[in-house]
Amino acid sequence: MIIEPRVRGFICLTSHPEGTAENVKQQIEYVKSKGKIANGPKKVLVIGASTGFGLASRISAAFGSDAATIGVFFEKPAAPRKPGTAGWYNTAAFEKQAIDAGIYAKSINGDAFSDEIKKQTIDLIKQDLGQVDLVIYSLASPRRTHPKTGVAHSSVLKPISQAFTNKTVDFHAGIVSDITIQPVENQEDIDNTIAVMGGEDWKFWIEQLKAADVLAPGVKTVAYSYIGPELTYPIYRNGTIGKAKDNLENTVPELNELLKDLRGVSYVSVNKALVTQSSSAIPVVPLYISLLYKVMKAKGIHEGTIEQMQRLFSEHLYSGNAVSLDEKGRIRVDDLEMREDVQQEVAKLWEQATSENLEEISDIRGYRNEFFHLFGFNFEDVDYESETNEVVEIPSIKA
Ligand code: NAI
Repeated sequence: MIIEPRVRGFICLTSHPEGTAENVKQQIEYVKSKGKIANGPKKVLVIGASTGFGLASRISAAFGSDAATIGVFFEKPAAPRKPGTAGWYNTAAFEKQAIDAGIYAKSINGDAFSDEIKKQTIDLIKQDLGQVDLVIYSLASPRRTHPKTGVAHSSVLKPISQAFTNKTVDFHAGIVSDITIQPVENQEDIDNTIAVMGGEDWKFWIEQLKAADVLAPGVKTVAYSYIGPELTYPIYRNGTIGKAKDNLENTVPELNELLKDLRGVSYVSVNKALVTQSSSAIPVVPLYISLLYKVMKAKGIHEGTIEQMQRLFSEHLYSGNAVSLDEKGRIRVDDLEMREDVQQEVAKLWEQATSENLEEISDIRGYRNEFFHLFGFNFEDVDYESETNEVVEIPSIKA
């Protein structure tokens, strides 16, 4: 069928199999161009492996250090006349390239918050890999059904004590306007967001993997967080999602205790703001990202998810030196984003940004282009006018 982008606000309902394959191929080429990571991971579990930072982590492990990877995610399979989600096609392309390169890769599609998917994953590790030496936790989800209580928690993206008014952008139309976001009405909203995006599920994973004896001695586990600039604090770091990130970060000491007898260690890595399916849903943040891209590209220090994850692996997790941490014990690969000169320039542009000057002072075009890239659109080498086969299988999930 011919697949065109069908955009509804900050999501795109369709994805293109050849375009997403191109996206994966470019990420693999980047990792290969950086050379092998000495003493990198060998057997890796990636939870949230199909898009964004999780996919880039999987590619960095597989093609940067020939690691066998098991990826867990929640995606819609492709069916006749019904294209799959981008993460489905990404994984199909990734697995094919891994197989061609002689690298083990298998995937599990289902709800990572459930005990059932955790058990399936453990069984697969036992059957094929024995143990894993790295567990990446990269879930981003609006809801979670709690495996013990059965309660369905939904997260909210809201400020906490007072309403927040600031600029935001409709990145499709290029219109800058003011938005006021009302604060949470009760503690429940905060608790629900923590239940979805906090550290409890990460802990459940590590507890169950350890109890099943599928964690190798010296195992590492990493989850991802974000801080960002003061101008987004009310909606991000000091908002409901920030409380969930505090909770995630505070899980590290507990996990370190749990992993002590394996000489294992857990980390949170604070990553850079990037266009992903999750970040485009947060008000105010897309305008910040489009200004940030402009400034970082001009300075020659822009990175995407793959550059970030390749650097996390080669310069932090597997550099051979002690991992350097900030005062709160976190790895910082948002260092370039948070550089003072970068932040000062973004703050200046933020004051100036209007619908009229947006194209000129921001990288809104780059933002839009990356948004479409997430779904496999806007790649020069793909012929979008020709028929494409929408029914693409993931080799390890074949019926
Ligand atoms: P994403 O939306 O691209 O990826 C989310 C992944 O989670 C996908 O693989 C999806 O299939 C999977 N997933 C969602 N619900 C699931 C479920 N119930 N069961 C199994 N898999 C499920 O998100 P992104 O942006 O890569 O986020 C990953 C992490 O990185 C999050 O913790 C996010 O807060 C963090 N982060 C994101 C930044 C950004 O600017 N995008 C910046 C810094 C950190």
